[in-house]
Amino acid sequence: MRRMTLADFQKMKDEGRPIAMVTAYDYASALIAEQAGVPAILVGDSLGMVMQGQDTTLPVRVEDMIYHARMVMRGSRKALVVVDLPFLSYATEQDAVDAARRVMQEGGGQALKLEGGREIVPIVQRLTAMGVPVMGHLGLTPQAQHQIGLRAQAKEVRAARKLLDDARALEEAGAFGIVLEVIPADLAALVSKEVRIPTIGIGAGAGCDGQVQVWHDVLGLFEGKSPRHAHRFAEIGAQMVGALSHYVKQVEEGSFPTKAQSVSMAPDILAALTA
Ligand code: KIV
Ligand code: NA
Repeated sequence: MRRMTLADFQKMKDEGRPIAMVTAYDYASALIAEQAGVPAILVGDSLGMVMQGQDTTLPVRVEDMIYHARMVMRGSRKALVVVDLPFLSYATEQDAVDAARRVMQEGGGQALKLEGGREIVPIVQRLTAMGVPVMGHLGLTPQAQHQIGLRAQAKEVRAARKLLDDARALEEAGAFGIVLEVIPADLAALVSKEVRIPTIGIGAGAGCDGQVQVWHDVLGLFEGKSPRHAHRFAEIGAQMVGALSHYVKQVEEGSFPTKAQSVSMAPDILAALTA
C-alpha cells in the first residue's frame, strides 16, 4: 500500500475512524510503528527531552529536526509523517519558509506542525500557499511554557472561546489538522465538531478525531510516572534493563559468548601458529 496522504487523513475523520498517531524519532522506531500499523507519525520536538535529555523543547534546533526526520523517513513507508518546527524557527514568515525548506528538503516528511493560534495565521497561510501542509497545535503549547506553564489550558470561558476561535482561524488559514493538548475533554469535543479538519488530542479526551502520544510514554521506556494523559501500554524500559543486566551478568561470569556465537578454525592452523 502507498503512503497515507492528507486526503486519507481527512477521510478518516469523515468516516468516523479515530486516528492513532505516535511520535517516533529514528529509523528503528519508525520500523516498529509501521509494523504496528500506526497511520500517522509525529517527529515531535519532544525529542529534545526524550532523545536529547534536555529539560524542555526550547533548545531543539532545525538541524535536530532534520536529523531525526531523515531517520524516521528511512524507516517509515506507509504512515503520514508530520515534523515539528522547533521553537523560534517560524517567528516571521521568512523564517518559517526557510525552516520549512530545510526540514522538508533535507529531512523529509509530508507536513509540518506549528504551535499557536491566530497569531500564526499569516505563517500558516504562507506555508500552505507554497504547498507545505501545516498542522496546528493549541492548548498546552510547550514552546510557550515560560508564559503559560505546563498545566491544563482553556478552562475558563474566555480562554475556551479563544481556543475555539483559534481552531477556526487555523482551519480557515489552511491547516489540515490540529493537535489539542491538555484542554478539557468537553471543549476538545466541541472544537472537533466545529472544525471539519481532524483534531488530534493529547490529554484532551476521547471526543477528538484522533490521539497522539509520545513514544516513550506509551511504551514505558523510562522509570517513574508517565504524564497523566498517557497510558503505559507496556514496560519496555524495565524489559531493556532486565535484558542488559542479564547480558552483563553472563559476560562477567563467562557464560557468554558460547561456541554458538563464535567462529572456529581447523586445529592444524592453530598448531601451526603455536609451533
Ligand atoms: O513534540 C511532541 O511530541 C508533540 C506532541 C506531544 C503533540 O508536539
Ligand atoms: Na511538539
